[in-house]
Amino acid sequence: MQDQNLKDFLKEFSISDSQLQEIYKRFTSEIRNGLSKTTQPQADIKCYMTYVQDLPTGDEKGDFLALDLGGTNFRVLLVSLKGQHEAEIDAKVYAVANDLMIGEGTQLFDHIANCLAEFVVEHSLGDKHLPLGFTFSFPCVQLGLTKALLVRWTKGFKCAGVELEDVVRLLKEAIARRGDLIIDVMAVLNDATGTLMSCAHRNPECRIGVIIGTGCNACYVERVENADLLEIEYKTDKRHILVNTEWGAFGESGQLEFMRTDYDRTVDKLTLNAGTQLFEKMISGMYLGELVRLVLQDAIIKDLIFHRCTDKQNFINILNKNAGCIETRFISEIENDGFPEFRQTRLLLQELFGLEKTSVEDCQKLRFICECISKRAAKLAAVGLSSLINKIAEPHVVVGVDGSVYRFHPHFDEYMREAMRVLVDPKLSFDLMLSEDGSGRGAALVAAVASKN
Ligand code: BGC
Repeated sequence: MQDQNLKDFLKEFSISDSQLQEIYKRFTSEIRNGLSKTTQPQADIKCYMTYVQDLPTGDEKGDFLALDLGGTNFRVLLVSLKGQHEAEIDAKVYAVANDLMIGEGTQLFDHIANCLAEFVVEHSLGDKHLPLGFTFSFPCVQLGLTKALLVRWTKGFKCAGVELEDVVRLLKEAIARRGDLIIDVMAVLNDATGTLMSCAHRNPECRIGVIIGTGCNACYVERVENADLLEIEYKTDKRHILVNTEWGAFGESGQLEFMRTDYDRTVDKLTLNAGTQLFEKMISGMYLGELVRLVLQDAIIKDLIFHRCTDKQNFINILNKNAGCIETRFISEIENDGFPEFRQTRLLLQELFGLEKTSVEDCQKLRFICECISKRAAKLAAVGLSSLINKIAEPHVVVGVDGSVYRFHPHFDEYMREAMRVLVDPKLSFDLMLSEDGSGRGAALVAAVASKN
């Protein structure tokens, strides 16, 4: 049984059924507004056209290069599509140092080109001129399959000179500056699009790709007649188009204020993109740990947890001064821990804050704090998915899911499904499938599909 005072304190993180319905209603109307030319400028959820109009058949073959920029790491991949729904992937991860994330755009793209060149040499691909798919996981207005203007940076990136520019052009210019690589950029795409393509490659019933990782976003299959934003380069003979919702921006015009907490507001203020991506900031891995840090700090001050701790003030100071000290992966570890030993929780508390001999009661309370924050995140993600599933309205829809929060949290899937069962039209059924390397395989598939057309 949880302590009633702590429960009351955390109440603002719980979402009642009627609140859930209200968020659902608002979210659904933002999607509708995002899809229509007249209302899109005001809509929070922009529903960008991807110009990807074919899902993979599974028969795609060939070797492709892929670049994946968007989270904590940058990756270069060699993807061999083998037909029969099979792919082999060889990938290398390159760190993106913090000063590159907030420096000059040209330096970031030079780094990408350098990593690509190193990879090409290491894999002896120099004379093969492989087609390349570029997974660039930030909000972009696409003007075709190979032209994407960055709307704004998210997730801690803030490089100068990239916003409103075509990122494919910036990539090509960086490659040209080196002068030693011949690369054919076939497509630029978002990681949510990649995830949808990658999961559809394995399961033809997949219609949605969602990322619940460092950031949060979804892409889905829309009927062409519902996409009046389509302008250039689209195929009129195709019935569908993939839409990159950029749903992380939901809430920017105040739609979520009735349930955002002061902790959410503080988390937002501490970011490089304050006032934006508010839905994302309640769901994704870049922010959940921060929420736990702020809530925990306040709970200690209010004597709701760790009240027998001998050096309470020191604990509070560490929490206060060290933004980012509670990483989202700790939430997964804490929620995964076994009662009454709480081995992992105790280890973390000792390593991070020098706490010795934490009581079972405090471990339980800490787990409860984590649960409240991750449950709320899962319910919000479920709102978005349910809205898209009901919109697609096919009898059975599979959702491909990628991202560290979903992948490593022990109960996120279960929390999400529970809320989705409430919101999805009972005449429709759905399933969630874990994506296998959506960004890499997806990039190759978009490039493959593009080269077929
Ligand atoms: C970006 C999306 C991306 C998501 C997941 C968000 O911050 O705006 O484009 O898909 O993160 O990586």
